[in-house]
Amino acid sequence: MKAGKQFSLILSCTLFSLLTACGGGSDDDNDDDAPELSRQAQAGRLVFNDTSLSDPTNTPAGGGQGCVSCHDPALAYTDPSTVNRDIGVSPAVDPSILGIRNTPTIPYGIFAPPFSFTATGAVGGIVHDGRFINLEAQAAGPPLNQREMMNDTRAAYLLRIKQSTIYPELRRLLGANLFDSFDNNDDDTSPAVNTAYITLANAVAAFEREDASFQLFNSKFDASLNGRAQLTADEQAGLNLFNTHCASCHPSTRPDQSLVNPPTPPLFTDFTYHALGVPRNAKIPDNADPAFFDLGLCGPERADAATVRDQRPELCGAFKVPTLRNIAVTAPYFHNGFFATLEEVVEFYATREVTPERWYVDGVKYNDLTEQYRGNVNNTDVPFALQTSTGQRAFSPAEAAQIVAFLRTLTDAHLATP
Ligand code: HEC
Ligand code: HEC
Repeated sequence: MKAGKQFSLILSCTLFSLLTACGGGSDDDNDDDAPELSRQAQAGRLVFNDTSLSDPTNTPAGGGQGCVSCHDPALAYTDPSTVNRDIGVSPAVDPSILGIRNTPTIPYGIFAPPFSFTATGAVGGIVHDGRFINLEAQAAGPPLNQREMMNDTRAAYLLRIKQSTIYPELRRLLGANLFDSFDNNDDDTSPAVNTAYITLANAVAAFEREDASFQLFNSKFDASLNGRAQLTADEQAGLNLFNTHCASCHPSTRPDQSLVNPPTPPLFTDFTYHALGVPRNAKIPDNADPAFFDLGLCGPERADAATVRDQRPELCGAFKVPTLRNIAVTAPYFHNGFFATLEEVVEFYATREVTPERWYVDGVKYNDLTEQYRGNVNNTDVPFALQTSTGQRAFSPAEAAQIVAFLRTLTDAHLATP
């Protein structure tokens, strides 16, 4: 026990000093200081960035699709496509097929604890509904997802791998034996096919865990914590307002070690789940069906959705609290991409209860939930409870602007515009 604790403290200190240069010096030269990636993570980086691993490998629009197509490092690993920006969800490699959810940022979300249900709700897990217990499980999804890379089978995906330009390097990094123990006639019943498929997914997860770009902690906010920058008066006022209205779900303080171990600087998520009553996004093709509802923990994507609906109906409509790091560069917002700007998001929090007609244009309050689950929408946390008790906005337009100014200090140094 004691040794374990000591180890994690040493590890966290090393991690922290490598990533934030907390021992002094410049925080802008992470590339030079970055630790060498393991062979597994190097292989994962190749797979993550390869866009020829989809079916089709090439489209008339040019190129196929890989992780990087929807998770662009220049946008804190969110989707650069105009489709995502205009509609709110990402297109599959076949651009006529759209997903049902907004592509989230990957950095900092990597610190999510494994998914579990709790007495009061749920915590942890990967993606908006936490259906993947960890990054390894998640990375095995997209290659076969028919709204993403669209390969039909694991074996077909591995054929793409063998035909790709990264293949010789993957053989070198992961060992030739991994690929030589099956051939083109083997299907998904072959243990060797499954071993290779899972090894590649684990490699991608290792890249996400190890590469510094997923955990830089070098925003202006971090610099202010380390005494190397000062927030402006508006940003500081915004932080104070944020602590009153937002930090109950998006903590601005270091996460508890029981949640994130080794500890990190603030992540702006406690990885819990809440229904916020985000308005229905009519631009999502699936929403053309009035009977279709994305209920998060209650499906449609989770395998245990029916059980959750049955046993924990109070969780229907709940989605994971996302990190707010890099939020200024990761539009659109929320699981369904309904909001295009941060200003609108903050305005929604300020006024959802006092002027619902502004947000629910069809006149149906909480219109993206079936009637029986509308009571699940959070009305107890400060911004919402305050509106109910006072009949007024939670905070003024000037204060909303200060909150936005604060949120803009959460951008990693290399992505920040002065
Ligand atoms: C077509 C676009 C697309 C592609 C390609 C894609 N993703 Fe995603 N990614 C998404 C969407 C959409 C979600 C949210 C899914 C959900 O909530 O159901 C997501 C969620 C994630 C998350 C969860 C982040 C968090 O904090 O919960 C990770 C990690 C991730 N993707 C990694 C990958 C990896 C690795 C690959 C390649 C193997 C990949 N993605 C390929 C669109 C894409
Ligand atoms: C009751 C918990 C709770 C409170 C309080 C809260 N949030 Fe959130 N926040 C969430 C959840 C849950 C989501 C994701 C909801 C979804 O996608 O349906 C979210 C999403 C967001 C997003 C979109 C993130 C993205 O990547 O799409 C922003 C921005 C945001 N919150 C900012 C704020 C601000 C600013 C405040 C205070 C004014 C605040 N939140 C208060 C729980 C909360």
